[in-house]
This record gives sequence, structure tokens and C-alpha cells, in this order.
Amino acid sequence: MSRARCRGAPLLLGLLAGIGHSASCAASAQGCDSLTGTPIVFGVDWQTDIKPIFNEKFTTGRCTSCHNAGQLDGGLDLTDFGIDAIYKIVPAVIEPGRPRGSLLFLKINCDAPPVGQRMPLGGLPLTLDEQILVFDWIAQGALGDLPDEPPIPRDFLFADGLESLHR
Ligand code: HEC
Repeated sequence: MSRARCRGAPLLLGLLAGIGHSASCAASAQGCDSLTGTPIVFGVDWQTDIKPIFNEKFTTGRCTSCHNAGQLDGGLDLTDFGIDAIYKIVPAVIEPGRPRGSLLFLKINCDAPPVGQRMPLGGLPLTLDEQILVFDWIAQGALGDLPDEPPIPRDFLFADGLESLHR
């Protein structure tokens, strides 16, 4: 089992909160937008489809305004500062192949995620289309490692690939 499944985040917060949400991450989320019946988007690309949702521009983006090297809210940096953001979020808040076990997805999909508030904090929720892209990118393995960096270890099973709609 990887600690990616709903990381409780910063060590100190985790200790204060008593940790413990890892195994039941998806089960404990409430008020989640339903994707049921919407078309699956195939071939989602990290660089062109997903990163613009976070808006990686340092300190001015929709997510990166609070999640950058200088303001590490939730212990999370979503910018490319130093290294591409994918290395900061997989596996920390993403479990490749399991969107509903991935804290990052639940934080943008649910009014009451397993930990803390819905993201973006204080802003409008992401559109369903944006949520679907993030869901499908994770379901497809959260791929996007850079060719000149060591591959991120992944341990997941693909969905059967025969379906075209979200369940
Ligand atoms: C106004 C500031 C702010 C914005 C904007 C914001 N966040 Fe957050 N984020 C926080 C704070 C504060 C926390 C820690 C408390 C919590 O989890 O609710 C957090 C926690 C998180 C966590 C959990 C980190 C962990 O390991 O516990 C994730 C994932 C996350 N945010 C993703 C996002 C995404 C994706 C966006 C954009 C769609 C976003 N945030 C926008 C302030 C913000």
C-alpha cells in the first residue's frame, strides 16, 4: 500500500490530526460531484491538459497562488519551480490508476474531502470538464514523467478500456 492514498499531509498536521485517514480516503469523502454517464476522455496529457488547470505560473495561478515554494499550503507545491510539478504530486497526493483514492482528485471533486476543505480554497469549484480531465488522467496512470528524469514508480492496473462512459 502506498502512502499516496490520501496523504494526510504535513507531518505535524498529520500527527495532530491523529493520521489514520489513509485507508478510507474515498469512503470518507462527501458531497462529491457525480461524473456518472459523462464520456471518458482518452489520452489526457499532463503538460497540455492538466497543468494549465492548476495554472503553474508561480504565485499567480488558480492553485499555485497558495501552493508554491514560498507558500506551501498543505505542504504542497504545484509549480514547476526546481522540478516539474508531476514529481511533487505523484505519488504524494495521487495514486496512479485510482482517482477516487487520490487526495488531489477528492479535493477538487468533493465539498467535504477526507482532509480539509474543497479546492481551490475560497474559489469557485473546477468545472465538471476540468474534474473529468483530472479523473481520467489519474485513471490512465497519471503519466507525464520527463524523459531525462528517472521514471516515477507506479503500481496500478489499467481499467479494462472497453468503456466509454464514467461509472
Ligand atoms: C487560497 C489558498 C489556496 C488555493 C487557491 C488552493 N489551495 Fe489547496 N490548500 C490550501 C490549504 C490552506 C490547504 C491545507 C488545508 C486543507 O487541506 O484544506 C490546502 C490543501 C490542498 C491539498 C491537500 C494537500 C495534502 O497533502 O494534505 C491539495 C491536494 C490541494 N490543496 C490542491 C489544490 C488544488 C488542485 C488547487 C486549485 C484547484 C488548490 N489546492 C487551490 C490552500 C489553497
